[in-house]
Amino acid sequence: FAPKLLTGHKLLLTAGPTREAIDPVRYISNHSSGKMGFALAKAAAEMGAEVTLVAGPVNLATPHGVKRIDVESAEQMLEAVMAQVDEHNIFIGCAAVADYRIATVATDKIKKSAEQMQLALVRNPDILATVAQHKPKLFTVGFAAETQDVEKYARGKLEKKQLDMIAANDVSIQGLGFNADDNALVVFDKESCQHLPATNKLTLARQLLTLIEQKLTAQ
Ligand code: C5P
Repeated sequence: FAPKLLTGHKLLLTAGPTREAIDPVRYISNHSSGKMGFALAKAAAEMGAEVTLVAGPVNLATPHGVKRIDVESAEQMLEAVMAQVDEHNIFIGCAAVADYRIATVATDKIKKSAEQMQLALVRNPDILATVAQHKPKLFTVGFAAETQDVEKYARGKLEKKQLDMIAANDVSIQGLGFNADDNALVVFDKESCQHLPATNKLTLARQLLTLIEQKLTAQ
C-alpha cells in the first residue's frame, strides 16, 4: 500500500506527550506513547508527502524519510511548530500537550519538609488553535481523546479551535487509544462524520490521510 496520494503536500505534525519541569529532576506529563503521530508520519511519507514531525519525549524510532525535531515542553513544541509552519500546507496536532505548566520552575531540587505542598500551574498555549489561526492558512486537523460524549466534545473543538477536521477517539475503551497499538476514530468535519473502525494505528493513519487528501482536493 503506497499510492503516492500526498505527493506535493508538506505535512507538519506533533506527537507524543509534553514534559513540564517542576524542578531540575521532576516533571509532570501524561501517558501518550506517540504511536499514533509516528504512524501518521510514516504513512504520510510513504504516501509521498514531505513530513516534519515535532515530537515530545517518546521511545520510538524516526520513520524513514521523516524530518524529526525533538522537544520537551509545550512552549518548546509551540516554538518549533511556529518556526516550521510556513513551509507546510497541512498540520496535524496529534500530541497530548500538557494543559498546564508549573508557574515557576524551581532552580534547585525541591526538598521535602511540610506534610502538604501546592504547585501553582498556568495554562499552556494551545498549539493547534494557534496554527489554525495562522495565515496563510494550513489545513488543520486535531485529535480529541475523550472518555464520554465523544461526538459532542469533538464537534465543540472543531468549532472552537476553527479546525478543518477532527479525529475523535474514546480512550475509555480497553485496548484502544493511549499507548495501545490499535485505535478507532470518528472523523468530523463541518459537513460530515466518518467512522474508522478499530484497527492498527498504521492502517488507521493511512485511512485518515486519505480522508484529508479527499477533503483538500474537494476544496
Ligand atoms: O482541547 P484538547 O486538549 O482536548 O484538544 C486536543 C487537540 O488539541 C489535540 O489535537 C492536541 O494535539 C491539540 N492541543 C494543542 N495544544 C494544547 C492542547 C491541545 O495543540 N495546548
